[in-house]
Amino acid sequence: MSNESAKVYQPSPDFVKNAAVSGMEGYKALCAEAEQDYEGYWGKRAKELLSWQTPFTKILDESNAPTYGWFVDGKLNASYNCLDRQVERGLGDKVALIFEADDGQVTKVTYKELLARVSKIANALKELGVQKGDRVIIYMPMTIDGIASMQACARIGATHSIVFGGFSAQSLRDRISDAGAKVLITSDGQFRGGKSLPLKAIADEAFAMGGCEACTSVLVFKRTGVDVAMTAGRDVWADDIVNKQSDQCDPVWVEAEHPLFLLYTSGSTGKPKGVQHSTGGYLLHAMLTMLYTFDLKKEDIFWCTADIGWVTGHTYITYGPLACGGTEVVFEGIPTFPNAGRFWDMIQKHKVSIFYTAPTAIRSLVKAADTDPSVHPKKYDLSSLRLLGSVGEPINPTAWEWYYENVGGGRCPIVDTFWQTETGGHMITPMPGATPLVPGSCTLPFPGIQAAVVDETGNEVPWGQGGILVVKKPWPSMIRAVWGDADRFKKSYFPEDLGGKLYLAGDGAIRDANNGYFTITGRIDDVLNVSGHRMGTMEIESALVAHPMVAEAAVVGRPDDLTGEAIVAFVVLKGSRPTGDDAKKVIKELSDFVGKEIGPIAKPKDIRFGDNLPKTRSGKIMRRLLRSLAKGEEVTQDTSTLENPQILEQLKG
Ligand code: WT7
Repeated sequence: MSNESAKVYQPSPDFVKNAAVSGMEGYKALCAEAEQDYEGYWGKRAKELLSWQTPFTKILDESNAPTYGWFVDGKLNASYNCLDRQVERGLGDKVALIFEADDGQVTKVTYKELLARVSKIANALKELGVQKGDRVIIYMPMTIDGIASMQACARIGATHSIVFGGFSAQSLRDRISDAGAKVLITSDGQFRGGKSLPLKAIADEAFAMGGCEACTSVLVFKRTGVDVAMTAGRDVWADDIVNKQSDQCDPVWVEAEHPLFLLYTSGSTGKPKGVQHSTGGYLLHAMLTMLYTFDLKKEDIFWCTADIGWVTGHTYITYGPLACGGTEVVFEGIPTFPNAGRFWDMIQKHKVSIFYTAPTAIRSLVKAADTDPSVHPKKYDLSSLRLLGSVGEPINPTAWEWYYENVGGGRCPIVDTFWQTETGGHMITPMPGATPLVPGSCTLPFPGIQAAVVDETGNEVPWGQGGILVVKKPWPSMIRAVWGDADRFKKSYFPEDLGGKLYLAGDGAIRDANNGYFTITGRIDDVLNVSGHRMGTMEIESALVAHPMVAEAAVVGRPDDLTGEAIVAFVVLKGSRPTGDDAKKVIKELSDFVGKEIGPIAKPKDIRFGDNLPKTRSGKIMRRLLRSLAKGEEVTQDTSTLENPQILEQLKG
């Protein structure tokens, strides 16, 4: 496969001239620097970009590989690096956050004000007994206090773990329990698309399920004003405990390896894993990617549309932009409320210069603009934009070109950034003032990242041949552990099949035969990507079989124009196979049940019933066959090993 025939988009001479990574010579020089002295490359930048309370003397510690340590004897504080030092540098009155609420109300927060708010929350957490190393679960909407709560944890050395506000009571319970959290931070409710949705009530349900006994306090912010129950001795209103605190709180200096956060993400088993990140190495990459990939300048208005519930919101909302002293837009709502022009309206209003969003959002806005010309990006003044970004899933060339022409006005480079919860920040991405762009390709590794495509035994395959995406050398922002499961960490990320030294991303990839550009071909494990959200098929299967009517379930993905992949579930009920209206009723029941078990994002788009699932004589479910059925393809595979070929007809859908 080669991109030879594909259209190539060059950065403008103006962009190249002013870019942090200027021209391909600039990019190659950085790669060469890392090649010659790998540790020195990262060490130099860690010294220059981060403020250390105790400087590090050692860069990479491999003594406990594959758990790698970076800058291990150095001490720092992430919140100090994001807030105090900006104030010390004279940026106290610079706007840090331009917050736009769901209803359109705008609040601007300066660095000085954010520091004061964070300090108050930090002091409140201390009053609740939170100490360095304690875990705090944050179940908050996209608000200033959501971000400030994360920073407050970092300030006192507590390890935060955000649970996305769309996750269910069960998911929240599992994470509070797995993390052994001492405190939960939440709000009464959240606004999304003009609707008021509960959060505290769901948290109460989570507690009622049991297993959260170690979590002794719940700090509740007021957002929607909805009535909530408060459990005496456990629940406290932020208005009561936060507002009265001093706005001064000394940062707690932590070792570079101190866990800044855990973030749960789906893998190929039923149980999400708590991905543990460091403080020093993580923050370094958050900053470096802001500077190199996003080419952040002091006058930029940066907007990442992610939610703090996902890693993108951690690195490119809470930490990266602030650590660089930037100004960023923070958005509470959804792209289609009050109409599908919301993003374009906000870019125009706040004069956003760097815009970072997900392909699924772009695809839905293309569709909306096609049907309603009044929300077409061309109707808005988007001339403030100079750079666009994409993240979360492959962006199809058609969506890329639409984004480039209609949003970027044909003048803004698009950085298609490939990375993962586990990698902390960008891994394979264009440098906007250097890399010639090819729609659909995330192009080349970030300077210093040693990505490769290998076969099942860990040997590199020639360009032009598909294989498994790996990273050959440890990098500062890599995952440090799966919380509480050392075995799973090794098996998932440094499997012995590949020699035990290569980081396994879990994606397939192919490099262009001519220029070595990477194209991601999708997950190679049982993980689906629905609207840029990671879902384990096993997780959804476990949820389905937890329903009393269900005997067995198998879940697969099928390509979807809007969401990238869609969830298709094949279900065997304990009773007889339902048809017609009965089937419709059961489908709704099961779908709602999955929504309650995991969250609405896990609801299958399609549920089909069979008397059995297609299995080999040894009882193994033939997933490949199910994938064909899900797509509506004729089954061309060999079904001779199938015990029960007649059920294929039932599952056709
Ligand atoms: C998986 C990671 C990265 C933060 C948001 C998602 C897919 C991510 C791209 C891209 C193709 C991509 C991969 C990856 N993915 N970005 N630019 N091109 N695929 O983080 O939930 O940890 O998911 O998302 O499959 O493994 P995540």
